[in-house]
Amino acid sequence: MREQRYLSVLFILYFIIFFFSAISIRAQEVEDEREFDYGAKSEKGPRKWGELKKEWEACKNGEMQSPIDMSQERVRIIRKPEIRHYKLCNATVKNRGHDISVQWHGDAGSVLINGTNYPLQQAHWHSPSEHTVNGRRYDMEMHMVHLNENATNTIAVTAVLYKIGKPDRFLSKLIRNISSMIDKKDEVKNAGLIDPREIKVGSRTYYRYMGSLTVPPCTEGVIWTIKKKVRTVSRAQVKMLREAVHDYAARNVRPLQPINKRPVYLMAPEDTT
Ligand SMILES: *[C@@H]1O[C@H](CO)[C@@H](O)[C@H](O)[C@H]1NC(C)=O
Ligand SMILES: *[C@@H]1O[C@H](CO)[C@@H](O)[C@H](O)[C@H]1NC(C)=O
Ligand SMILES: *[C@@H]1O[C@H](CO)[C@@H](O)[C@H](O)[C@H]1NC(C)=O
Ligand SMILES: *[C@@H]1O[C@H](CO)[C@@H](O)[C@H](O)[C@H]1NC(C)=O
Ligand SMILES: [Zn+2]
Repeated sequence: MREQRYLSVLFILYFIIFFFSAISIRAQEVEDEREFDYGAKSEKGPRKWGELKKEWEACKNGEMQSPIDMSQERVRIIRKPEIRHYKLCNATVKNRGHDISVQWHGDAGSVLINGTNYPLQQAHWHSPSEHTVNGRRYDMEMHMVHLNENATNTIAVTAVLYKIGKPDRFLSKLIRNISSMIDKKDEVKNAGLIDPREIKVGSRTYYRYMGSLTVPPCTEGVIWTIKKKVRTVSRAQVKMLREAVHDYAARNVRPLQPINKRPVYLMAPEDTT
């Protein structure tokens, strides 16, 4: 009798252990889906990116990495407008796990930089901001990624900074799509026709410097355009973006990188004050 009770307790214990280890194996699997993350002490965090894959070496060895701080002392003023020709185009919204992105399919127009056209591919969000201005970090940063495979520098990214305030109208349009993909990595939703001109960039004055992608593979030769005007986003919108991405990327910001004597220009067209 006593032995039987002993056996059944043992059996229950065994079952409990089995049950919890199954859960933890499952959690491990979910965990391992990520290629990289943003944890300061994580094995896959920004300090380790350059060691995770051979193709990601630039994250460690690169000398023109992004993001950086833009401070007035370094900035040199140049007068040159940025010319944008965007078009209405079909798009999808994708949860990439480390961020939410809008990808255009077809001709969404382009930006003209230094005589070269860079067609728009996608836009995505980071919160808080990756670039800082005079040491100040803003609440959100949007990146519009442009690509021209024939150019010497193939990637051009336009960044817009946001602080908490009124909602951003472009994000408001995508709210249903984004809130339907919370925690669903690789989920893609057809967003219909999305007009890139609805992304309000605010001003024609911008910072320009040469850097890299801020996620692996940290490819260099990226022409950065950071709009000087800081726009607004609501607290709820930032919260929605953070909830939608995976927990490890709720704060999807790469730490500031060394400037290494790179010039940073402030481009101020003639007719702006
Ligand atoms: C967008 O996609 C729809 C449905 O696939 C298609 O009918 C329409 O022609 C596309 N519009 C543009 C501008 O590509
Ligand atoms: C702009 O073009 C000139 C001449 O082709 C080149 O020397 C310069 O490096 C280019 N600047 C950028 C930012 O690509
Ligand atoms: C790159 O060159 C190819 C071949 O000449 C051309 O079809 C393509 O449109 C060019 N891409 C861009 C972005 O100009
Ligand atoms: C995504 O947005 C489009 C355009 O507003 C809408 O037609 C579609 O129903 C949305 N999908 C979801 C799942 O909310
Ligand atoms: Zn980005």
